[in-house]
Order: sequence, then C-alpha cells, then structure tokens
Amino acid sequence: MRNIALREVAVSDADVYERMFCDPTMMSGLGGPLPRSGIRAKLQHDIDEATSGRAWICMIRLSRGDPTAVGGNVVLWAHESHGMSISEIGWMVLPEFQGRGIGKAAVRLLLRRARDAGRWGVVHAYPGITNTASNAICRTLGFTLAGRHDAVFAGRSLPTNHWHINPINLT
Ligand SMILES: CC(C)(COP(=O)(O)OP(=O)(O)OC[C@H]1O[C@@H](n2cnc3c(N)ncnc32)[C@H](O)[C@@H]1OP(=O)(O)O)[C@@H](O)C(=O)NCCC(=O)NCCS
Repeated sequence: MRNIALREVAVSDADVYERMFCDPTMMSGLGGPLPRSGIRAKLQHDIDEATSGRAWICMIRLSRGDPTAVGGNVVLWAHESHGMSISEIGWMVLPEFQGRGIGKAAVRLLLRRARDAGRWGVVHAYPGITNTASNAICRTLGFTLAGRHDAVFAGRSLPTNHWHINPINLT
C-alpha cells in the first residue's frame, strides 16, 4: 500500500475543498463544478457530519514530503434510497497526485476501517461510466459490478456504474 494516512476533515481544508469541488476537470464526472460561494457551507456541513460520527469524511495525508500536504479525500456516508439505508463511498485525488496509487490506497484503507468497525454493511460506489481510474479501483479492490445507475450529484443526473462490496471481501 502507498504511504498515506487518513485524517478527519478540518476547517483548514477550505483551500483543498475549493480545488476539489470548484474545478471543472475534477468535477467532470460528478456533474460539474460547485459554485465557490457554497464551499464554506459544504465544508462546515462535512465537518459537522464527521464530528457527529454520522459520516466518515477523511482527507488523504501524504506521508512523504510536506506532512501537512493533502492529496484528496475519501468519504463514507449513509443515505436513504427507496426507503432503505445505503452506505456509499466516494473519493477524489488532486491532479498533481493522480496516477500514483493514492486513490486506490485510500479507498482500501477506509474500507478496512469499515470492515474492522463492522458498521457500514455492504458499501456502494457509483463512478461515472467513463471514469476509467475509479472503475479500476472498484474492480481491483473486489467490488461487484451490479449494473448501470443514473446517479444524482449536486442535483445533476449522471450515468454511472453501480458497484458494491461487503468490506469483509476486500482484496
Ligand atoms: C479517479 C481518481 C480518484 C483516481 O485516483 P488516482 O490516485 O489517480 O488512482 P490510482 O493511481 O490509485 O489508480 C487506480 C487504478 O486506476 C488506474 N488508473 C489511474 N489513472 C488512470 C487513467 N488516467 N486511465 C486509466 N487508468 C488509470 C490505475 O492503473 C489503477 O489501476 P490498477 O490498480 O489496476 O493498476 C482521480 O483521478 C480523481 O480524483 N479524479 C477526479 C474526481 C473523480 O473522478 N472522483 C471519483 C468519483 S467516483
């Protein structure tokens, strides 16, 4: 596994949040960039979700080089779908850190935590159908492909692949 660690999201992540969520390329598979004006509120909402324990909202810390450097995020939360509670995982890696195995290592680390905590049950992921790297992460970590799914990100509809995994089957 790559040399990374996870830490909870914090107020100091405002700049990283803007780079992740307001960038058209980073958000191309997630329905497009979010407006800058909403980033502070999103960050505060995420901090509240994480500190309450309702969601695991983690920033990826890189162990080499600058110890404060953040490579992206990986998040696990629950939401209602057709009257059922669904656990969902999502991830992002900043452009300068992509293609180094960081995204895959971070997803594996959070799923190991989920497995060890025995809390989240089956975990679902919905990468865009053209998102080669994210679909590779699912495939190589042992997710099962359930089929196509029209997901809604920030109020926008997007064709995705629906993958799921019971974390005890993580490879
Ligand atoms: C998708 C994303 C998280 C991938 O993170 P990453 O750290 O670059 O990915 P990794 O280096 O861990 O690579 C994961 C797998 O994808 C493959 N991969 C990485 N970049 C790729 C690319 N550009 N094209 C094809 N495959 C690629 C890797 O070979 C690896 O597969 P392997 O384990 O079989 O070798 C990152 O590109 C990103 O944040 N993109 C924008 C936001 C986004 O799409 N988020 C995901 C929403 S589901």
